[in-house]
Amino acid sequence: MAKVKTTFFCQNCGAQYAKWQGQCTSCKEWNTIAEEVIQKPEKSSWKTASSSTSKRVSKPLKINEIDTAQEARLNMQDAEFNRVLGGGMVHGSLTLLGGEPGIGKSTLLLQIALSLPYKTLYVSGEESQKQIKMRAERINPQENNCYILTETKTQNIFKQIEAVEPDLVIIDSIQTLHSDYIESSAGSISQIKECTTELIKFAKETATPVLLIGHITKDGHIAGPKILEHMVDTVLQFEGDRNHVFRILRAHKNRFGSTNELGIYEMQGSGLREVSNPSEILISEKDGELSGNAIAATLEGLRPLMIEVQALVSTAVYGTPQRSATGFNAKRLNMLLAVLEKRAGFRLGAKDVFLNITGGISVDDPAIDLAVVASILSSNEDVALPSDYCFAAEVGLSGEIRPVQRVEQRILEAEKLGFSTIFVSKYNKISLKHTSIKIQLISKIEDLVNILV
Ligand code: TYD
Ligand code: MG
Repeated sequence: MAKVKTTFFCQNCGAQYAKWQGQCTSCKEWNTIAEEVIQKPEKSSWKTASSSTSKRVSKPLKINEIDTAQEARLNMQDAEFNRVLGGGMVHGSLTLLGGEPGIGKSTLLLQIALSLPYKTLYVSGEESQKQIKMRAERINPQENNCYILTETKTQNIFKQIEAVEPDLVIIDSIQTLHSDYIESSAGSISQIKECTTELIKFAKETATPVLLIGHITKDGHIAGPKILEHMVDTVLQFEGDRNHVFRILRAHKNRFGSTNELGIYEMQGSGLREVSNPSEILISEKDGELSGNAIAATLEGLRPLMIEVQALVSTAVYGTPQRSATGFNAKRLNMLLAVLEKRAGFRLGAKDVFLNITGGISVDDPAIDLAVVASILSSNEDVALPSDYCFAAEVGLSGEIRPVQRVEQRILEAEKLGFSTIFVSKYNKISLKHTSIKIQLISKIEDLVNILV
């Protein structure tokens, strides 16, 4: 009997070792090295016979001699998905979609598969054909050309691919696949590496795009070796708060497009709906003006997004006042409160302050500062801000209003959505002319207080 061959892999970075050790010398993580059974593949899995006699030998070409005509992209029939990919899927590319369990990865890809006019093969290692059918019925598909396969062995998958000849292959998920040439269990580092290698080979040789779903670990990284992210062409992340309906699709890596684009979806009872104008949804409809609400003109990636900030300032019932922020950095909130106290003379020390970004999204853009300050002022004074005011500026420690990037794009978005006034820093260079929106330039926090209250 052949001797069983084993190797040790770091579960964090994928480094390979001949024997066990406590710390990975490559990524310095402790206790991440585990033994896995491997067997050197004698032959590759995808088209074993034809690849050895392959006539296609790559030869060097000058960059302008390379023909890009056949690189036309596959239209995914989903404006948000196309946007994140940079205009559709590139032929022969591998795309990895990661995200928390239950966020809607399978729903998104099944929905896309069911709406495509091309022949699509949806391979699931997680659900049975009946379960997928039940999900598909919720999404309510139109006429489609999608084949469902429940299989986890790559060799069998390739057999079916040869029979069906799909234009797009979707794998749900890479962690459930296993290859005959490796003996360790599905989801182990060596299996993930081997299966991905086989899929890359298939994708590049047949110019068929492949979409993979990947699980993520508890700290938010895609499970498996980091090398998986290096191997694929595009890494997408599907994120959002499971208790809210919004889902954001982002590119973390994209060999064929920008990583600044993002797509927004809304989870409904009948699948995911593309949200092409997110600002209208993130701003809540209400009767009359309420104190404590302010609208920020923020940017998510390259996309302008009008976001509603709500603050509640009330006298603290217990000795220590509470400060809590949802969707906004709590340390930054404390800093802004200190600035308001020191520079604008507000006595917030004995008050509870609660801050909430509506829609369950969290914002890093510093341009939201001014809207946070305005909402706190509004709640503290109990005066409602006009609902057609919006804000885009950073607040500094000495109470100065600082400029933000791409301010013109924010102003144009606010104008498009019918806001009457936008507050920005005096130090922003604005070359816009003939805008119907009033651009209120301010330089200090006192200016804001004087105008608003
Ligand atoms: P799923 O795609 O199974 O998540 P993942 O593959 O990322 O683990 O999404 C499951 C969630 O989506 C589930 O909690 C129910 C919800 N859902 C809807 O709200 N509407 C729908 O039409 C579908 C299909 C799912
Ligand atoms: Mg799933």
